[in-house]
Amino acid sequence: MELRGILGAAATAALLVAGGLTAGAAKAATVVISCGALGQELAICQQGADAWARKTGNQVKVVSTPSSATERLALYQQMLAAGSGDIDVYQIDVIWPGVLGQHFEDLSKAVGKDILDQHFPSIVKNNTVDGRLVGMPWFTDAGLLYYRKDLLDKYKRPVPATWADLAETARIVMEGERKAGNARMQGFVFQGKAYEGLTCNALEWIDSNGGGTIVEADGKISVTRPQAVAALKQAAGWMGKIAPTGTLNYGEEEARGVFQSGDAVFMRNWPYAWALAQGADSPVKDKVGVAPLPKGGDQGKNSGTLGGWQLAVSKYSRNKEAAIDLVKYLASPEEQKRRVLQGAFLPTIKALYQDQDAIKSVPIMKDLYGTLTSAVARPATVTGDRYNQVSTEFFTAVHAVLTGQRPAEEAMKDLDQRLTRLGRGGRW
Ligand code: GLC
Repeated sequence: MELRGILGAAATAALLVAGGLTAGAAKAATVVISCGALGQELAICQQGADAWARKTGNQVKVVSTPSSATERLALYQQMLAAGSGDIDVYQIDVIWPGVLGQHFEDLSKAVGKDILDQHFPSIVKNNTVDGRLVGMPWFTDAGLLYYRKDLLDKYKRPVPATWADLAETARIVMEGERKAGNARMQGFVFQGKAYEGLTCNALEWIDSNGGGTIVEADGKISVTRPQAVAALKQAAGWMGKIAPTGTLNYGEEEARGVFQSGDAVFMRNWPYAWALAQGADSPVKDKVGVAPLPKGGDQGKNSGTLGGWQLAVSKYSRNKEAAIDLVKYLASPEEQKRRVLQGAFLPTIKALYQDQDAIKSVPIMKDLYGTLTSAVARPATVTGDRYNQVSTEFFTAVHAVLTGQRPAEEAMKDLDQRLTRLGRGGRW
């Protein structure tokens, strides 16, 4: 292009800017967002993304990702390490800012303090790596106990206060129901596959027994604490008794499938399972209660693992401006409210916990507010970019204990050594 032409183009661009239209915004962008796909998650993400596209005149493409967080991370790592611009917005786990943060834009300026102040400060802090906000809080999660109200009533059993109570009630109800003709009835289902979900479950068993959080805030490894070992022994004792051995291959959706079909007394899962268990076509509709997960013992405490998802904008995106706009839209109070009502995805915006429509549709937001907001964090901040290796070592060791391949003491001693090496003696 000759100089006059270039000047002409520059003048046109200046006019567009003056008229309030930047060249980027004038041209409709196509933004690609990766969303989770547990239950109705993908459909609900698609609805939100479509609403944004209609509002802004942009286009959006929603891509589905593996339902296992561990597999999803591997996929993201591959794409981001290659500097791929194929995905503009990534749905990232609460434990990933340290692992993936370097590949994402700092959103703090674009989002602004006023909006950020509406969200739980602990999540904003979690998503801030070296002063950069690498993920916009989107929804939060905490491990919960789902139980069959009707069956506990029938067998006159209270909601279990401790894991020992849970095991006993599970056995009594399961045996009773099997005798009564439901041969498929199970006592307890949870996430026992060797993946991130097992890390979440096992952390709850251990922390509820006062056995620590795998790696403590000061970098010390705590997996050989007697309470940690005892908690794993207790869980191993459930296998093939109150929990089907198939649990060793269950993620969230497999556990939900069994429970929602009416074939389990108890289930450990995240809040999203509430909306589905209460769905019009759910065989257990109106038969389900939700409570904090049991305590480790009389000395123990209730413990639910903190989960949740953020929206991050890739550094390699070619549509950053539109991508950031989509993120702001999806994380807005209106959209977070819609997501609670439709899917029980818990908001990261504090004020929504007082919203009457939200509370009516998802009563645990009020009833279990303490449980939801005091959830135990996995050691992602202290272990930083090594978190995924820590978790992989941990769930592999726990899985070996649950299958009976290794005794708990031995597995935890070995794990301690591996984590010590990985964490350079606790310095991380
Ligand atoms: C849920 C949680 C997430 C966790 C995952 C494990 O999606 O929100 O934080 O890592 O489950 O399966």
